[in-house]
Amino acid sequence: MSEVPMVTALGRQEALPLTEEQKAVRAAARDFAHKHLAHDVIERDEEQRFPAKAVQIMGELGFMGMMTPAEYGGGGMDTVAYVLAIEEIAAIDASAAVIMSVNNSLVQWVIHQYGSDYLKNTYLPLLAQGKSLGAFCLSEPEAGSDATSQRTTARRQGDHYVLKGVKNWITNGGQADFYVVIAQSDPDKGYKGINAFLVERKTKGVVVGKKENKLGIRSSDTHSVMFEGAQVPVRNRIGDEGKGFNYAMQILNGGRIGIAAQAVGIARGATQAALRYAQTRHAFGQAIAKHQAIQFKLARMATHLEAAHQLTLQAARAKDAHIDYSVQSATAKLFASEVAMKTTAEAIQIHGGYGYVKEYHVERMMRDAKITEIYEGTSEIQKILIARHLLS
Ligand code: CAA
Repeated sequence: MSEVPMVTALGRQEALPLTEEQKAVRAAARDFAHKHLAHDVIERDEEQRFPAKAVQIMGELGFMGMMTPAEYGGGGMDTVAYVLAIEEIAAIDASAAVIMSVNNSLVQWVIHQYGSDYLKNTYLPLLAQGKSLGAFCLSEPEAGSDATSQRTTARRQGDHYVLKGVKNWITNGGQADFYVVIAQSDPDKGYKGINAFLVERKTKGVVVGKKENKLGIRSSDTHSVMFEGAQVPVRNRIGDEGKGFNYAMQILNGGRIGIAAQAVGIARGATQAALRYAQTRHAFGQAIAKHQAIQFKLARMATHLEAAHQLTLQAARAKDAHIDYSVQSATAKLFASEVAMKTTAEAIQIHGGYGYVKEYHVERMMRDAKITEIYEGTSEIQKILIARHLLS
């Protein structure tokens, strides 16, 4: 098939030019994913096994701290390069993509943006080089979409805060060394009483709870995390007192670009699998790709994929240009996650019975796609954010 801008999301020529660095990052991510993730992706999904070795290699290759500046051990790259890397990795293994995305977008970004020199110097080099892993603790049993209703408390006592409460569905929860924790210090002030903390897992009173048995992204590690009177030094508060909720929202504005990229990667993996299958599978005397019914499906999948890819790049470019990207990231995540669901379901349909069994990958891709409509803000939350913007 010729290289036309229409199918840029399939990893061919880009409609808008990429820098040499962005192209090199994309090629390195593709190479890494094929070498280190593809071979055992089905087994890890089945066994819910964390890809520890691959994560270590991601650290060595610079994928665990892509946007953190070089002075703190990161790659100092832009968000476009980050999106391209996540797309490549998610096209092979969506679990590895979210492990990386949380460490980059939800953990390092806020430390770098708002943390003190102490926090930056102490934690960023470890996280950025993949020597330590981070997790983001916002959601609670009764505070998912309604994130201002934080029940986890962080009461100030002298030179430390005492954290009490439960956080749910924490990606990297069982593997993380450091948690960014959002907690309520002054309930009378509502969300303006919320703080953000960098909490070390080894802190007494930090307890990793049950591992979730999930529908998809099963090789990523999702746990509840309990804080049972954990004492966190005041110097581990991130940024200003009472700003924790605002930081959480800003963290998620960036995080959603990573999840949009993950969704694009999943949709691309499914489209590529369907393209391959359609050209090799024969029915009624010819490759099924010769049947117009299949061609129409493939054309629609490629069109949706391209639109999702471009929306995601647009959000990344807005972030890199330091203009407000909150609506772009919500738009990209909303659309890309819907595309991931539709495209993976269609890829199964093209595969017929083979699509329904594990060996052909597309059933896993559909299970993996579903979470992109849920985490880092459900599709309904993205619609609220977009509608608020339209009506403001
Ligand atoms: N960007 C920046 N600031 C934002 C914002 C955004 N996208 N959304 C809200 N805010 C700010 C508001 O400006 C306001 O701040 P100020 O008063 O200082 O200006 C403050 O946050 C409160 O906002 P609202 O009054 O709008 O509060 P609300 O309760 O009506 O709505 C919400 C808030 C937008 C619904 C928010 O609760 C939300 O985004 N919920 C979804 C939470 C979420 O995405 N959770 C994902 C869990 S993390 C995860 O999944 C990680 C993982 O492991 C992969």
